[in-house]
Amino acid sequence: MQKRLQDFVKSFGNPSPQVSETAKEDQKERFKEKILQFQFTPKDIKAYLDRFVIKQEEAKKVLSVAVCDHYNQVKEALMGRGPTHYVKQNVLLVGPSGVGKTYLIRCLADCIGVPMVKADATKFSETGYVGADVEDLVRELIQQAEGDIEIAQYGIIYLDEVDKLASSHFMGRDVSGRGVQSNLLKLLEETDVPIKAAHDVLGQMQSLFDFQRGSKAPRKTINTRYILFILSGAFEKLSEIVQRRIRRSHLGFQPHGPEGVPSDIIAEAQTVDFVEYGLEPEFIGRLPVRVFCQPLGKEDLFHVLRDSEGSILKQYKSSFAAYGIELKFTEEALHLIAEKAIEEKTGARGLMTICEKVLRPFRFELPGSCVRELEIDSFTVLDPEKRLGEILQKIEENKKNKENEQIEQFLLEFYKANEIRIHFHPDAIEALKQEAHEKGISVIDLCKEKFKNYSLGLKLIKKNNGTNDFILTKEDIQYLEETLNRWIATSYKSESPSQGQ
Ligand SMILES: Nc1ncnc2c1ncn2[C@@H]1O[C@H](COP(=O)(O)OP(=O)(O)OP(=O)(O)O)[C@@H](O)[C@H]1O
Ligand SMILES: [Mg+2]
Repeated sequence: MQKRLQDFVKSFGNPSPQVSETAKEDQKERFKEKILQFQFTPKDIKAYLDRFVIKQEEAKKVLSVAVCDHYNQVKEALMGRGPTHYVKQNVLLVGPSGVGKTYLIRCLADCIGVPMVKADATKFSETGYVGADVEDLVRELIQQAEGDIEIAQYGIIYLDEVDKLASSHFMGRDVSGRGVQSNLLKLLEETDVPIKAAHDVLGQMQSLFDFQRGSKAPRKTINTRYILFILSGAFEKLSEIVQRRIRRSHLGFQPHGPEGVPSDIIAEAQTVDFVEYGLEPEFIGRLPVRVFCQPLGKEDLFHVLRDSEGSILKQYKSSFAAYGIELKFTEEALHLIAEKAIEEKTGARGLMTICEKVLRPFRFELPGSCVRELEIDSFTVLDPEKRLGEILQKIEENKKNKENEQIEQFLLEFYKANEIRIHFHPDAIEALKQEAHEKGISVIDLCKEKFKNYSLGLKLIKKNNGTNDFILTKEDIQYLEETLNRWIATSYKSESPSQGQ
């Protein structure tokens, strides 16, 4: 059995292990070097984040500090000088949807150059598999680190939607977020995770063969002591809880007025509020760094579009550029897009919804056309279809003009070559254009092809009766050969011009 399995695995072959192996090694080295050279200050990191993330000043500062601290510790550990008692600064990121939580962490991971894994906490609670799946996150980090366990141990795990793990979300349901929370507890602090999951058959086989091939026994576990966990969620009802607590403590004194919840009050949230929200005290206690992201206003969304280095406008511009079209936006248009995006109530995500709506008709019609530039102004934002209609009409007129020019050019060249003038009846011009469209060639090429025999034929007629000008109608064009023959025949009969104006 074992022999057969071995043959089976061998049969996959290994065509060019060198290439991929080198690439992997490179990536590993890059990760490692970046961490070893880690010498950012919190200000450096914030400056990097500023290039991409608009607003969220406080969040950027707190994250920069936490991350700098963490990776300074990691660096010490990599150089073998790690502290014996390191308390990790796992982060809890709170804020509404689409304001840049995930984006902040992505940019952070890029800046520091460590592998990062992102997942939704709901994935764990909904499937009901609680234990193994949470550990899968850690294993995924190893994949991100190209199989390097050491590097994976210094990665970032970003877990979204942790607010959905609160008990308040599971009333009357048999699956409990509490189970996920307690599984996370171990990971958040320090635990050894087996690098091959019990349910991972391929992985198990792989290690069996690695072992049999005589490669040194691989490490079996990965430690989570230096993995930075960043958990995030919207915690929608949290502001109300905070406000209630503050009111209670002020014994009826209402610092923020009688109605409504001020949007920034969520930043006052304390451990007790999260516990009341439904998170386990041990869980929230392991997330000492709390970061609050603010909702984005109209002006912020405008800056997200115009100033963020990761702006979606860049994406759209490059997708138009691929067809040789330069896409531009006026400032007014950007303000208007931001204004419309606010109504979507999905934070910066609304920008994409609006841009998509505005650009969709152009993205289909303009590639392959003669349009080289598209400027989106506020008029276009308000009624993209109308603007497209106008552009298409212009393209059509342009084409017609070009075709007329081509026909004139043909006639002129014919005259220069033969000293004989051909004239087309307006009907004939339309017929020629029509035929060119059907054949998918330019009208000048069509004319050159169709009137190949005409120079000789017309010269002969001119010799016979001195005719210099020839008018062709739509019917003549349809039967060019016959027309020419008829004219030639007549020219032998009459000495005087039979054709002409
Ligand atoms: N503050 C911001 N500055 C620049 N771009 C932003 C900002 N917020 C959001 N974006 C843009 O919007 C996209 C979506 O944001 P992101 O994924 O970070 O939302 P989120 O806060 O994680 O929301 P959710 O809670 O729904 O996951 C980002 O990829 C980014 O392009
Ligand atoms: Mg997110």
